[in-house]
Amino acid sequence: MSLLLPILLALLASVLGGLYMLGMFRKRKSNEPPIDKGTIPWLGYALDFRKNTAAFLKRMQKKHGDIFTIQIAGYYFTFITDPLSFGSIVKESRTKLDFEQFAMELVARVFGYHTQTSDHKLLEKASTKHLMGDGLVVMTQAMMENLQNLMLHNIGSRDGEKKWQQDGLFHYSYNIVFRAGYLALFGNETAKNQGSLEKAKKFDRDHSDELFGEFRKYDKLFPRLAYAVLPPKDKMEAERLKRLFWNMLSVKRTLQKENISGWITEQSQYKAENGMPEYMQDRFMFLLLWASQGNTGPACFWLLLYLMKHPDAMEAVRGEVEKVLKETGQQVKPGGPLINLTRDMLLKTPIMDSAVEETLRLTAAPVLIRAVKEDMNLKMSNGREYAIRKGDRVALFPYTAVQMDQEVHPEPEKFKYNRFLNEDGTKKTDFFKNGQRLKFFTMPWGAGTTICPGRFFATNELKQFIFLMLSYFEFELVNPKEEIPGIDQNRWGFGTMQPTHDIQFKYRLRY
Ligand code: HEM
Repeated sequence: MSLLLPILLALLASVLGGLYMLGMFRKRKSNEPPIDKGTIPWLGYALDFRKNTAAFLKRMQKKHGDIFTIQIAGYYFTFITDPLSFGSIVKESRTKLDFEQFAMELVARVFGYHTQTSDHKLLEKASTKHLMGDGLVVMTQAMMENLQNLMLHNIGSRDGEKKWQQDGLFHYSYNIVFRAGYLALFGNETAKNQGSLEKAKKFDRDHSDELFGEFRKYDKLFPRLAYAVLPPKDKMEAERLKRLFWNMLSVKRTLQKENISGWITEQSQYKAENGMPEYMQDRFMFLLLWASQGNTGPACFWLLLYLMKHPDAMEAVRGEVEKVLKETGQQVKPGGPLINLTRDMLLKTPIMDSAVEETLRLTAAPVLIRAVKEDMNLKMSNGREYAIRKGDRVALFPYTAVQMDQEVHPEPEKFKYNRFLNEDGTKKTDFFKNGQRLKFFTMPWGAGTTICPGRFFATNELKQFIFLMLSYFEFELVNPKEEIPGIDQNRWGFGTMQPTHDIQFKYRLRY
């Protein structure tokens, strides 16, 4: 008995210690948001969150209101669902809410890349210079040339005769835009290497197609890889693919190309100068490929499909495309020169801009996460203040909080191509909640310091793709009555959503 008691006490202490570590004893303090730990120790709501983030957060919002803390895999996440209060998170200083810690862990797991403190500043600098403003003129041109190589290379040839071709619309859109975006950023094969310009162009087409095939394999594994729940066989496949990308995108290979964008060269040059080992630079290339090519293709699919399913929208966008071409004295005709679509022309398309914004409102759904670095108070728009604990995480999911809020966007599930247009045809930015004007009324690109640095380039890519499709091709759904596919619930939180299944369409050159 004398020996049993200390053993039992030690056992009890370790069980209690374990439960403490699992967060079982955390209690809400009076000034903290409502807390909901779920029923499973430590895991909390991890399974519900992963199964269907949007449905789960909607349920939590209904239960707890505009702010609540939930336990997910050992972490406490405070979600704010009132878009009028988003500013207090987005603008908070980095000393209190840090964006890097969470991203660092994720990036190491999915790309094998170990971030450096200078990464974010460097990315911002290179993106401002090369993916916005004057830099965008060069990138638009590069994108255009690559889109033409992929979409129009057989124009005028016997292969290009007006023969209908069939493909999955998702596969087609993602494939073309991924490849053109990749070639525009990472550069083209040289004529010198291949013997002629035609051969170099063919090499670009074949090589980018192979890369896309491998990328899609990784893309499908990505959500489970990010959540660290891949079964061993898929984990091995993800490892194989990672290595393949490090190799295919290696700095050595990339630097042998021409027309490499300043966005890529500047970042890799800086890393080399700062002594980053070459194998780590190769991994960084993979990260850049992922960030730049994983979202725009799926977004192009949704946009094209919404236009096909909404003839009034298609007519309005087509009218705008024709007007812009006419204003610049261009016409697509048999045997004529390929159209030259510049960044300036893409600035004159308010209807298409609204259709793009509406598409992203319906299909882009990132979760924005910040790590809480010190105990702090969070002020909501209704004046209430909540205490947030150091070590927790603060998160926003704008998709359910604002993009699908019927008070902000009436009939939120419907595609309305002119939702972001005023009656006089200018861009609409007045959206209201509780009678107050919203600053954050749709957030496909995130917000604050981590806002997508490629957003202007991405918007141009979307518009260029639609422009070329409408100018050069006839296309229709194989079954025009087929419904718009649902959203694949596994990908909430990672950017542009993908459909549950593809939808067949046919297309042929108009000339
Ligand atoms: C429709 C297309 C796109 C969407 C919806 C999108 C959306 C996003 C979102 C939501 C984030 C994270 C924001 C956050 O965590 O707060 C992000 C980050 C990022 N995006 Fe995009 N993006 C798109 C296209 C692009 C393109 C074309 C590029 C580059 C050419 C790009 C480069 C990046 C990079 C480098 C980051 C990481 C930024 C950082 O670490 O601070 N994106 N994007």
